[in-house]
Amino acid sequence: MNDISSTQARLATLGQLVASIGHEVQQPLAGIALNAGAALRWLDRPQADIAQARAALAIIVDAAAHANEVVRGIRRLAQGAEPDTSVCLLDTMLSDVLAPLRRQLTDQRILLSIDVAAGAYQVFADPVQLRQVLLNLVGNAIDALCGVAGRERTLHIAARPLVSAGAIVPARILITISDSGIGLPRHAPESVFEPLVTGKRGGMGMGLAICRAIVEAHGGTLRARPGEVHGSVFEFTMPAAPSQAADAATGSHSCARQR
Ligand SMILES: Nc1ncnc2c1ncn2[C@@H]1O[C@H](COP(=O)(O)OP(=O)(O)OP(=O)(O)O)[C@@H](O)[C@H]1O
Ligand SMILES: [Mg+2]
Repeated sequence: MNDISSTQARLATLGQLVASIGHEVQQPLAGIALNAGAALRWLDRPQADIAQARAALAIIVDAAAHANEVVRGIRRLAQGAEPDTSVCLLDTMLSDVLAPLRRQLTDQRILLSIDVAAGAYQVFADPVQLRQVLLNLVGNAIDALCGVAGRERTLHIAARPLVSAGAIVPARILITISDSGIGLPRHAPESVFEPLVTGKRGGMGMGLAICRAIVEAHGGTLRARPGEVHGSVFEFTMPAAPSQAADAATGSHSCARQR
């Protein structure tokens, strides 16, 4: 590669890095802004409510730490570094990801069903990155469902061991997120994974590119296909945690550090 094309390639990589970071820190930054405003209002009351202000500040501290970890993870991804893996309990992590979205699901009349047996699926993944994948895929499904009228808005999330050529592949878990939303673009369904390709007003078109990069860094695959009747199905695989590591993951935390 000559100097100009190598500089252009590096600038393109840098551009994607910036876009990825911008995309992924939106949510924690919004949480920080919201809770900073709330903390100020609790303190500005004639009788300042210190306990409430403290609670809002604690949320800010967590969101800032999360944003920091997300940026670190994206930098590691761009450097081609190995994921910082732990044993992650899929059902608990999913509950964490869905908790802040419950209100939106109810408001948008989205029927959520989950087929992930409690404690049954433990994956070996970078918890921050796995969370990002789940959040992006569920967020996209919700966006696709908001454009639907005249039929049920359904969102189904399932996990099971991967089956290949009729045989279970015990080392890999398949996670499926299906929706009855507007469906993938018919002419070029694969284009949705390209960076900066978006079908939404205000979308960045980075979510799926980031998801695919994360899943592939874990040795897995992320695919999309049309739903059987309506909507779309996104499926990805993650390494299953070795059973001894799985046994070590206890308590209410969704992930137990191994290193
Ligand atoms: N579940 C889905 N159903 C239908 N189309 C989808 C679904 N998920 C993604 N898409 C399509 O793929 C495009 C790219 O998704 P991607 O998450 O990469 O970016 P985005 O959602 O447009 O923007 P953002 O970068 O803010 O996430 C979307 O704009 C949408 O057109
Ligand atoms: Mg998206």
